[in-house]
Order: sequence, then structure tokens, then C-alpha cells
Amino acid sequence: MTALTDTRSAALYRRALEVMPGGVSSPVRAMRAIGRDPVFLARGEGAEVVDVDGNRYVDYVCSWGPLIHGHAHPEVLEVIAEAATRGTSFGAPTPGEVELASEVARRMDGVQMLRMTSSGTEAAMTALRVARAATGRDKVLKFEGAYHGHVDGLLARAGSGLATQSLPSSPGVPAGTAAQTVVVAWNDPDALHAATEAHELAAILAEPLPANMGLVPPQPGFLELLRERASATGALLVLDEVISGFRVARGGAQELTGITADLTILGKVLGGGLPAAAVGGRAELMNMLAPAGEVYQAGTLSGNPLAVAAGLRALKLLDESAYVRLGAVTERLASGLRKAAAEADRYPVQVVSATGLVTVFFSDRPVKSFEDARECDLDAYAAWCRELLARGVYPPPSQFEAWFPSLAHMPEQIDRTVEAAAAAFATLGESSSSSAQGAR
Ligand SMILES: Cc1ncc(COP(=O)(O)O)c(C=O)c1O
Repeated sequence: MTALTDTRSAALYRRALEVMPGGVSSPVRAMRAIGRDPVFLARGEGAEVVDVDGNRYVDYVCSWGPLIHGHAHPEVLEVIAEAATRGTSFGAPTPGEVELASEVARRMDGVQMLRMTSSGTEAAMTALRVARAATGRDKVLKFEGAYHGHVDGLLARAGSGLATQSLPSSPGVPAGTAAQTVVVAWNDPDALHAATEAHELAAILAEPLPANMGLVPPQPGFLELLRERASATGALLVLDEVISGFRVARGGAQELTGITADLTILGKVLGGGLPAAAVGGRAELMNMLAPAGEVYQAGTLSGNPLAVAAGLRALKLLDESAYVRLGAVTERLASGLRKAAAEADRYPVQVVSATGLVTVFFSDRPVKSFEDARECDLDAYAAWCRELLARGVYPPPSQFEAWFPSLAHMPEQIDRTVEAAAAAFATLGESSSSSAQGAR
């Protein structure tokens, strides 16, 4: 086994640490949650990535969701190259944006109009601004364990009770800003009732299929309750489909559940692997945005023509049959992992899945809330992931992130993944083979 310190990844990481905070452009990439150093990637091909040392992995991060067609899909590359020959950015309207907005409107009942941004964070920020302007209220409700980007007000955690104001969950977030956010436990109807009675809310903000604490689907009736509470109290229901949008179904989680949001936040698949995100909703709400209305929002690279071309092609490739195929890929992976864990019999796990999303919770009971997720055995998950990396599988390096199987994952690659997972399960409890520095 190559010592970690001798690799090109290790050398790059040492240099990166001198010029980039933590050596990375976004924290989870540093792999600290699984107790090892990051892998620097050189290229991706379909469902696989190759690191700078030439090691190949079946990739289940897939850029954290955008790559539903896998890496370097030839048709997506073709439209990006073609768009680039016409110019990479104009800061002026282009035909592709109109086509993309129309395509999204065809797919989602609740979306008549779309405002594009470059990131999901910006789209979430914009959605909240519209909700506040529309309702004349300041407070918003979010759920524990949900992630909507690094907007100041959404980096909030619950105080000790409903009577207590929420607290910043990061240094640098003003206490007054965090106090505008009411944080409620996911899948807790009583807490939701109490919070919607106690506060005048501009918005109830939720991932309809939360995947940022691992995948924790709503319990039966919970999304319906969100819709009912929003309508009954005059708040807007803002559904964040940055992950679930165009991944779990043609029209996202809203199509699957029949719940329609007032505003929808989109990203990831929408940009086909390039930076694009959006907020969409009914015309009367969306027309509040400048220049149609007075709510200010803007972006130099918003609606970037390369990202729009990539997103449009990614969506065009996502017909009904694509979701049937993605469902089958997901099921093969989820059932394989379930069986591998049961046969190894080293550790109790809960394998949760939805089309294009999987989480392996290291827990002996179902995970229904962030509190349940936090109680998972994070050390065991970390040890398992290190073993997976050593066996050519690249899992999300955190218990709180979902796996992203794609349409590029072939049965042979899934089966190889399940074999690696079985071998990795079998090592759990053997401290020598799961040491942080030993892997890879
Ligand atoms: C549900 C959800 N909303 C918003 C965001 C933020 O998107 P971005 O990273 O593009 O700012 C993310 C990012 O992972 C997300 O998962």
C-alpha cells in the first residue's frame, strides 16, 4: 500500500493548505469527517473518476448531485463546446434562458416563471427575499438538519425551546439575523404546529426530500401538513429542490408527492454540471423581482449561456424512461448494500433510498430526524468509507450526505461497489485495517 504522504494528492494537499483555507474550495471535500486527507481528482469518465495518482474509483459523489448523466457526457460536452464558440458570457439575455425557463415550467406545476442565479445559495436567498416582500413578514421557518446553502440567516440552530430565539450556527452570522429563523425538528408535527402558532412567518422552507442529514424522507402526512400550515397562516411554502429537482422525478419531489410549493428553489441538475440555479414560482410572486417589480436581485453570470446549454441538454435527456432506469440503478445499489451489510453482520445499518439517492446510516433504528442522524456511529461510517476508498469506491465522505447514483452507473459498477462494500463491512472492528492514515 502506498503511504498517503508519498502520493501526488498528498503533495498537492500540502501546497493547497498554504494557499487555500483547509486546502479546499468547500469544506466537505477535505474528508475530515472520515478522518483522512482529500483525494485530488484528475478526470471523470461516466460513473468513474481518476485521481492524480492514477487510482480509479466508482464515483457516488458525482459533484454532489449535478451529474445525473455521469461525468463528461458526450452530448452535454458537445453543447457546452458549441455554446462556447459563440461566446462564454454576455451579461445580456440569450435565447437558451427562455428555453430553459419554459422547460422547467413544463415540468413543474408550481413554476410559471424562473429567475436564474449561479448557485443554490443565491436562489435560496432570493426566494426568502421574495417571500418577505410578499408577506410583509421577516421570520422564516426551517428544519433541523436541512441545508439551503450558506445564507447568513439559514445558518441557524434552534435555541433551547420555542420561546428561545435561534442561534447562529457559524461564527460571523449576526445573532439578530439568526433570530429571524425559527428552527423546528423535521418530522415533528407538534413542533411545527406550535411554531406556526407562535410566529408570524414569511415562509416555511423545507427540502421535500431532505438529503443533507443523509436521506430522511418525510413521514406520511408531514409534507401535507407543511402545505396546510403555510396556507392557514399566510406564509409561503418554499420547497428547496436543489437536490431532488429533476433527480427523483421529471417534476421533482413535488410531482411525486402532489404538494405544490409557492416558490421552488432549483440547482444542481438544472446546470448540467456547470454553475446554474434558479428560483421559480407563480407569476404574481416572481413578478415582484426587479425589473418587473421592486425586489432587488441580480447576478453578473446569472443565466450563463454555457450553463444554460448544459442544463437544457441534461433535462432533455431526462425523459420518463430515464427515471425508470435511474430507479433500477438505485434499487440495485440500495438492495446490494443492504444485503452486504446483513451478510457481514458486523454493524447494524439502515439503507434508505429514493430514485437517484441513497444513504447508509450506521444505526440500529430508522432515522427520522436530524437528532436520529446525529446519533449514528460516525466513527464506523468513517472507517467504512476509508475502506471503500481503498477499494476503488468514492462515497460521500460524511454520514450526513447522500450517495448520488447516476444514469452512467452500469450494473457491473454497482456490483463492484457492493463487493467492495461487503469487504469493507467485514473489516469493521479490525482497528489495523481501518486506520485513517493507512487507507489508500
Ligand atoms: C438542498 C440544497 N439547497 C441549497 C444548496 C446550496 O446550493 P449551492 O451549493 O449551489 O450554493 C444545496 C447544496 O448542496 C442543497 O443541497
